[in-house]
Amino acid sequence: MGAFDESKTKMNILIKNRNILQTTYIPDQLPHRENEVKNIVEIITPSLYKHKPSNILITGKTGTGKTAVLNYIGKELKKEDPSEENCSFLYVNCEIVDNPYGMLFNISNQIIKDQSNKIPFTGWSLDRVYDTLINSIDKENKIFIIVLDEIDRILQKNGDDIFYFLTTMNEKLKNSKVSIIGVTNNTKFTELLTSKIRSRLGEEKVVFPPYNPEQLQDILRKRAELAFEPGVVEEGVIPYCAAVSAQDSGDARKALDLLRVSAEKAERRGDSIVTEAHVKEAINAIEKDTVQEVIRTLPSQSKIILRSIIENHEKKDTSVITGDVYSLYKEICKGLNISPKSEKRVADLISELDMLGIIHARVKSFGRQGRTREIELNINKDIIEFVMKDELFEPLSKYKPPKQTKLL
Ligand SMILES: Nc1ncnc2c1ncn2[C@@H]1O[C@H](COP(=O)(O)OP(=O)(O)O)[C@@H](O)[C@H]1O
Ligand SMILES: [Mg+2]
Repeated sequence: MGAFDESKTKMNILIKNRNILQTTYIPDQLPHRENEVKNIVEIITPSLYKHKPSNILITGKTGTGKTAVLNYIGKELKKEDPSEENCSFLYVNCEIVDNPYGMLFNISNQIIKDQSNKIPFTGWSLDRVYDTLINSIDKENKIFIIVLDEIDRILQKNGDDIFYFLTTMNEKLKNSKVSIIGVTNNTKFTELLTSKIRSRLGEEKVVFPPYNPEQLQDILRKRAELAFEPGVVEEGVIPYCAAVSAQDSGDARKALDLLRVSAEKAERRGDSIVTEAHVKEAINAIEKDTVQEVIRTLPSQSKIILRSIIENHEKKDTSVITGDVYSLYKEICKGLNISPKSEKRVADLISELDMLGIIHARVKSFGRQGRTREIELNINKDIIEFVMKDELFEPLSKYKPPKQTKLL
């Protein structure tokens, strides 16, 4: 028997066009983003007449359609000026090129077509890259609209020198001009900038609000029409997916993911329609994945604290308090040969776990030692097991715990 036999017999293909449900798919229509599109289009229209538009800073939570809208506008702009005589629209994803060299390399690569004049992937000084880029931009004698998507990534890792360079570039250009469209999921991004750069980057500001449930339904319906044969998706499925995602964050990416995962659950079970039960199943699966991802990427110290909380819970029926967590935390650190942090620092890390929603920490009393908190776990059995199996704790299997401490 072949490895695929069983799955093949069971599988019932329901998604006619799988590509449509991928988050990388760029739809032709973007319902409920008409205002944002109009707003940005108005700001950048002067570029068609070879005038420099204002820089724009676009903010909005993830999944609010920022990247989709800019891709759409880029395509439409190209329709207006197909030979790019007056303006070119360049898109850079700063999540991928997250350092100044990479970013300038990427921009220049899109401008310099002649292979022999291209900037090398590495090796040049930043100054040389700057100068070469400025020269090649100026030679074109037109407007460049440069979209820097996920712009906060660059700032996080490299500070704001690069923005200073980009926003003062026009002073060095004689023939061409550059407009920057910065895009960020971080609604507090501007607070991280110096006031000079803030006012330069944010000459115009556009905010993308989260989608409400009705808007998410419209977005999902349009996609579902393209992705499924009629009748395959049960009536209540789309409102359900929309409601769950709207409650979360108004994130269209999450809503689409939920619909796709739900349909895949149905397919794998060999069901002929996608129902709300499949959505429920998908919610659980996605939730498990995200919590696991949060836990997997926790710093070691936080993982140890979490393990201590878990073990304290296993030992007792009553609630767990910070002091107990700290004692066991120190024991585990010893077993792992890691130096323990102060009680104060551990208290801060406990607060962080609380903010992540992994635990609930409630202030119980202000005793002589200060504040005691009662800690409850907010993760299920599967996730607890996932924590205990973290490779960080591998050395503990050889380590004999003190007295009554029960290691899982
Ligand atoms: N108004 C909309 N209509 C259709 N699809 C949308 C809309 N807004 C977002 N999407 C889809 O949702 C997903 C996330 O959108 P995206 O533009 O990547 O969000 P952001 O860049 O704000 O994080 C993408 O698959 C995108 O195609
Ligand atoms: Mg985006």
